Amino acid sequence: MRATSAAAGTLAIVLGSAQETGEHTDWPRWCGKVYQSGYPSFEPGGHTTTPDDNGTTNLYVQFKPRYNIYVDGESTGSFVINAALSPWYGSPWTNSTSDGGSTKPFNRLYFSINLVSDDRPLIENSIEVNTTGFEVNFDLSGFTPSTTPYGVVLYGASEFGDKTYNATSSFLYLPENPSGSVTKIDNLKGSLLFKNVNTDNQFQPLLPYGYYGLYNGSNSSAVSDDFVRNYTNGGQGLNAIIALAGFDDLNPVYDSMDHQSLPFMYDLRGSYENLSIVEQHVNTVKHHTSLFAYWTADEPDGWQKPFDAPAKAQDLIHQLDPYHPVAITLNCQDYYFGPYSLGGDILMEDVYPIGINSTFSKWNTTCNTTLGDCGCDNCQGNVQDVSSRLDDLSMYEFWLGMWPKPKFHNPQVFHGENYWFRDPTPGEARVMNALAFNRGATGIFGWTWPGSWELFDVHSDMSAVVTRSPVRDFLLNGKPKRLFISGEDVLDMAYWSYGNQIMVSVVNAGYVDIGGPLSIPLPEGTTSIESIPFGGLPWKFAGSELSIDTLPAMTVSLLMLSSVSAQ
Ligand SMILES: *[C@@H]1O[C@H](CO)[C@@H](O)[C@H](O)[C@H]1NC(C)=O
Ligand SMILES: *[C@@H]1O[C@H](CO)[C@@H](O)[C@H](O)[C@H]1NC(C)=O
Ligand SMILES: *[C@@H]1O[C@H](CO)[C@@H](O)[C@H](O)[C@H]1NC(C)=O
Ligand SMILES: *[C@@H]1O[C@H](CO)[C@@H](O)[C@H](O)[C@H]1NC(C)=O
Ligand SMILES: *[C@@H]1O[C@H](CO)[C@@H](O)[C@H](O)[C@H]1NC(C)=O
Ligand SMILES: *[C@@H]1O[C@H](CO)[C@@H](O)[C@H](O)[C@H]1NC(C)=O
Ligand SMILES: *[C@@H]1O[C@H](CO)[C@@H](O)[C@H](O)[C@H]1NC(C)=O
Ligand SMILES: *[C@@H]1O[C@H](CO)[C@@H](O)[C@H](O)[C@H]1NC(C)=O
Ligand SMILES: *[C@@H]1O[C@H](CO)[C@@H](O)[C@H](O)[C@H]1NC(C)=O
Ligand SMILES: *[C@@H]1O[C@H](CO)[C@@H](O)[C@H](O)[C@H]1NC(C)=O
Ligand SMILES: *[C@@H]1O[C@H](CO)[C@@H](O)[C@H](O)[C@H]1NC(C)=O
Repeated sequence: MRATSAAAGTLAIVLGSAQETGEHTDWPRWCGKVYQSGYPSFEPGGHTTTPDDNGTTNLYVQFKPRYNIYVDGESTGSFVINAALSPWYGSPWTNSTSDGGSTKPFNRLYFSINLVSDDRPLIENSIEVNTTGFEVNFDLSGFTPSTTPYGVVLYGASEFGDKTYNATSSFLYLPENPSGSVTKIDNLKGSLLFKNVNTDNQFQPLLPYGYYGLYNGSNSSAVSDDFVRNYTNGGQGLNAIIALAGFDDLNPVYDSMDHQSLPFMYDLRGSYENLSIVEQHVNTVKHHTSLFAYWTADEPDGWQKPFDAPAKAQDLIHQLDPYHPVAITLNCQDYYFGPYSLGGDILMEDVYPIGINSTFSKWNTTCNTTLGDCGCDNCQGNVQDVSSRLDDLSMYEFWLGMWPKPKFHNPQVFHGENYWFRDPTPGEARVMNALAFNRGATGIFGWTWPGSWELFDVHSDMSAVVTRSPVRDFLLNGKPKRLFISGEDVLDMAYWSYGNQIMVSVVNAGYVDIGGPLSIPLPEGTTSIESIPFGGLPWKFAGSELSIDTLPAMTVSLLMLSSVSAQ
């Protein structure tokens, strides 16, 4: 929730719009709950829950192209295949395959992936039952670039063919985008790749880190150039922006971003429900070399928008510009995640927990799961609200049987509106981002710029480290694994493997130092500290443990360690 949202401002009366499933549509609601006083508390609905388990074990086969798009000139594509055992999705599986005579364990699924158009096989292979993320290449060179997706079907069977499991998908092999940029979603790692003239037309990993940033200073390119230079610290700090560009599509700041190669997300939040405006804007902006994504719905779940509004905008954008993904921002903790998330290729969460009163609101109501709006839906008012929310979103995707989408964190970089009584401290700002990284976030966009200079420096400094090699390569290399020490609840730790190194993130997300000394057992094969790219604390390594005399309150450390078992 944010300065422009009515629930968060003085123009307060938002009447719930027609929501197919919600009741009480004429009451002022946010995330389905009444936020003004004088109304009763009621169960808002829209919860995502564990699916019913009918007692069968199923084999759930899913597959996707590794990248959501391929572009003319690429000669190799690949598919990522999952064959998980699931209590909820897929078709029944038992651990046996038989041809009538002999019987064997059903440990491998044999499959081919064929073109739907002519049933031509692209891949024949097999995957171990109950494994995921298996990647197999296929030859793209014979395909004609097209804006129409190629439909593909996976035919899977047990060794003796007595059990079959099929699934469908599609891939895009697009003509080169002659004038603009191209952004790929990596469906295996949950991150982005980007190319334009400034990357020599080669795809490069992109960890976008910036603000929702307002430029409306002037219609002069000298000033907009200056704005971009200041915003990026001359290319040394923030590396992306969601351009809240005031004016119109002719705003010179888009050209400034092109010239200085600042990847931007184009703001359609005010118009995504009007498809003729969407069309006009997309056609005007899509040729920019620094465009990397579109942003449509801002908190559609908070506003109880019609479920299909973000999805219709997304469909149209994909038709008009297949080269760039669509992002949406979800605000609620648990309000129709499934239907709302459909409309985004990238999901952003804007959990703003700092300085709130999480139990009693400015509207004079209690805040709980059935009533009230305290500025951060069902939050405790601490930094852990960020990690809890990302845990929730991943769990909902799992429960819904969805392929996980890239997730960006929107850090709180503001205070006000009688919801948020102070800014985050620099420590809290770093920690909330690190908690998001520890849960697999692959992009950061703070609300909002212009804002505090102190926090601008904090974010610029962090961006300078995490958006570049080597740290970037770890953060974008798939979901981190967690590390735990019993009894240390506020210590949040994760690691990523890449090459022959691991990167460990250690976050003290509490307000007191942890001391005495602290020792952290690391995965087997870790041999030494190579560098400490972030945090500057005096860590030591001995006997497979990291140690430090005192880990200061509210701090983040990123450490590179060599490992004989990482890959
Ligand atoms: C149980 O659920 C799975 C997955 O939806 C389904 O394929 C299977 O037929 C169901 N089994 C029974 C006995 O209902
Ligand atoms: C299937 O059974 C075999 C033989 O008992 C066993 O080794 C294997 O782990 C089982 N597979 C699964 C996925 O449970
Ligand atoms: C399948 O894999 C999951 C996750 O790794 C594991 O928890 C589960 O025990 C496995 N199931 C079987 C039958 O092996
Ligand atoms: C999978 O496709 C094959 C080939 O068309 C077919 O024989 C089989 O019945 C299908 N299996 C399922 C579960 O639909
Ligand atoms: C820029 O936007 C801000 C916030 O909406 C507004 O206060 C200011 O007047 C605008 N400035 C110009 C030059 O349009
Ligand atoms: C900015 O300048 C362009 C080109 O001169 C003009 O078309 C546009 O209307 C101007 N916009 C504003 C808001 O003054
Ligand atoms: C950029 O920063 C300089 C130096 O602080 C300042 O004078 C200038 O007004 C800034 N320009 C913009 C457009 O923000
Ligand atoms: C959509 O925008 C167009 C162009 O501004 C306008 O003419 C039309 O009335 C709008 N449609 C709706 C439903 O608001
Ligand atoms: C929240 O507001 C209520 C009502 O003003 C107050 O009693 C309570 O102490 C506040 N809680 C916090 C944590 O500030
Ligand atoms: C909340 O209650 C206080 C004290 O009774 C009152 O001053 C204030 O106007 C009320 N606010 C709202 C939004 O009802
Ligand atoms: C939320 O607070 C209201 C008002 O105190 C109360 O009636 C309701 O039972 C509470 N809901 C829950 C889930 O505790």
